[in-house]
Amino acid sequence: MLIEQLKSIVGPKGWTSDPAAMAPSLVDWRGAFHGSAPIVLSPASTDEVAAVVSACAAAGVAIVPQGGNTSMCGGAVPDESGQQIVLRLGRMNRIRALDTENFSIEVEAGCILEHIQIAARKAGRLFALSLGAEGSCQIGGNLATNAGGINVIRYGTARAQTLGLEAVLADGTVINSLRSLRKDTAGYDLKQLFIGSEGTLGIITAATLKLFPDPGLKTTVLIAIESSGAAVRLLSHLRRSIGDSIEAFELISGYVFGLVDRHIPASVPPFATEFPWYVLANTACGDDTGSLEQALQQAVEANLAGDAILAKSAAESAALWRIRHSIAEAERAAGKALKHDVAVPVSRIEEFLQRGDRLLAELAPGAQLIAFGHVGDGNLHYNVAMEPGSEQAARVTEAIYALATGLGGSFSAEHGVGRLKREYLVQYRNESEIELMRTLKRAMDPLNILNPGKVI
Ligand code: FAD
Ligand code: MLT
Ligand code: ZN
Repeated sequence: MLIEQLKSIVGPKGWTSDPAAMAPSLVDWRGAFHGSAPIVLSPASTDEVAAVVSACAAAGVAIVPQGGNTSMCGGAVPDESGQQIVLRLGRMNRIRALDTENFSIEVEAGCILEHIQIAARKAGRLFALSLGAEGSCQIGGNLATNAGGINVIRYGTARAQTLGLEAVLADGTVINSLRSLRKDTAGYDLKQLFIGSEGTLGIITAATLKLFPDPGLKTTVLIAIESSGAAVRLLSHLRRSIGDSIEAFELISGYVFGLVDRHIPASVPPFATEFPWYVLANTACGDDTGSLEQALQQAVEANLAGDAILAKSAAESAALWRIRHSIAEAERAAGKALKHDVAVPVSRIEEFLQRGDRLLAELAPGAQLIAFGHVGDGNLHYNVAMEPGSEQAARVTEAIYALATGLGGSFSAEHGVGRLKREYLVQYRNESEIELMRTLKRAMDPLNILNPGKVI
């Protein structure tokens, strides 16, 4: 009965129950979480989403919103019950409006991130959110997870780049907060409830996003360094020397460089000598690379950097970033790993990495560390090549999370909580925070039909 009603809401192009067509929606990107569903829906408009949610609410049936399904924590996959309906947003992929003078763009939730970047660039503007999955993840998923990526140091996370939002509540009501203002203190900022809530408080259907002037030519530099601590000191030095033009500042261990080299064709690391760590950075200093080169020279003299290569063309820059953006794929190809997406204050990164090494040596001697991350904003991917699920694996994860949170950090920096990290949320957020989260969830989704079993 409900299924027939849903089919008629979305029309023949908007649903499938064919096992082969549903399959990609029933497993996460890393292949760690498998679920099942009676039907996968692909609505084409906000009205259809609202009608679907309202029908599901009346029947008490759960909905799992899904964008590009690139979640790193099983957030977009239904559970094994076979009762949860998957709601793919991919057909809602229109760019509704682009206002060059207001530096804003209004897009539907199913727009692929890269398509928004391209539309902005064509208009001489920059949409600054950028991450390895940008060719397949969708803006709705980016906002639902408050995605970070490589440009946070200069432009902030997805949250900081959002001006307005449209969402469907758990009873099917449409909340239209699609304003495009930089200042607006009229009551609570409702869009913030949905950003980072991983589909548990509402379904995002559209957003108004902030654009920036296109900085034009970027300079990409790959810097070899002797220690992770040097990366943080190098960042301070560069910020003092060339100011705010650093857009991205990524740390990659020598082992991770080798991993990409082994698993991703045509991604040859450019240094002859192997270094323990590398930094890949982008600066928006246009044609004038003089001050950057001078600052790098000073860094080499002060032993903050071992060697540095400046990309000489857009193609060289793209090749370097291909290496960075291929890390997750190389890691997946290499086998199972414990993923630890932690954040610490930038000033504590060195201490985190040194103490992390000691913990690993003690708890999992010989286990391979896969360390890389967005060091410019304090977010490290401190992954360990180990089969998840064992007691030893749990001890490693516990120790890493305790270390990060003990240093004033977080166990979940940018990937979200999803299904993977639920138990840690109650452990590392204080009681009053958890109680307020539960109160919000109860108030906004009293029937618990929006992505149940995720986050909280
Ligand atoms: P999905 O995986 O489909 O969904 C993610 C969560 O959001 C789920 O809980 C889902 O239910 C919910 N959701 C999806 N759409 C909606 C909607 N419209 N309304 C409400 N809820 C919704 N993340 C980073 O932050 N930084 C990175 O640098 C980064 N790099 C990555 C690189 C690779 C190669 C991969 C595979 C992933 C990477 N990720 C990164 C993780 C992931 O891409 C991001 O979290 C991304 O933002 C998810 O977008 P998606 O459309 O794939 O969402
Ligand atoms: C990245 O920074 O590449 C992503 O967050 C993906 C990952 O952690 O594997
Ligand atoms: Zn990341």
